[in-house]
Amino acid sequence: MNVLIFDSNEKLNEAGANIITGLVQTNPRAVLGLATGGTPVGVYEQIVKDYKRGLVSFRGVTSFNLDEYVGLPVDHPESYRSYMNHHLFRHIDIPAEQTHIPNGNAEDPEAECRRYDELIAEAGQIDLQLLGLGHNGHIGFNEPAHALIRGTHVVDLAEETRRANARFFNSIDEVPKQAMTMGVGTILKAKTILLIVRGADKAEIVHRALTGPITTDCPASLLQTHPHLVVLLDREAGRLMA
Ligand code: GLP
Repeated sequence: MNVLIFDSNEKLNEAGANIITGLVQTNPRAVLGLATGGTPVGVYEQIVKDYKRGLVSFRGVTSFNLDEYVGLPVDHPESYRSYMNHHLFRHIDIPAEQTHIPNGNAEDPEAECRRYDELIAEAGQIDLQLLGLGHNGHIGFNEPAHALIRGTHVVDLAEETRRANARFFNSIDEVPKQAMTMGVGTILKAKTILLIVRGADKAEIVHRALTGPITTDCPASLLQTHPHLVVLLDREAGRLMA
């Protein structure tokens, strides 16, 4: 595990973007696992800057997002498809058909989860999986549980997660109660995992996830078992790690 702590958001964003654009520069056909939420926004902004400077092309890249809300119209501003278009896809040259996000409106959610896993398997291994961290230790939408699920599945969101994400909606009542998420088996199969965490409110869960017991009560703790885990923290999130 390689943990780096940054004094400024700008440096953290540059470091995150450098890892991703560096990978695509050396492997133009890279398979990227992408994340949403507040955490990666600045990294995506920096990637877009690098792209506009002509430093990198995403024409050959394939992407798989971690998750999507169930039952939110795809063109809703808070769907993860809208988020990805807004923050990244529409600014770079990745072909739309090479970007994948689970369809949270599928008539048959089980079949959609299987289809998503098959697409990932067909693309080969995910070269780099970007992750944020939930306050309860969730990754993607894999919430704390007695047992974690290997592949893509539908999950009931924890109240804490809905409360945390209510800031993106008009009220908590609008936050969907379910999501579709890649499973921890798929996440852990990625060749490299890039975990980014910001903010004082995440300092304790970062510490618990990276130094505490490996337990399904804290899904992110399973990342300790990964051979190529890179963790980028701002000073506040890294307060207990220094
Ligand atoms: C969300 C997402 C996760 C994200 C996490 C933290 O609900 N499903 O992929 O990493 O919770 O979100 P944020 O970056 O907004 O703190």
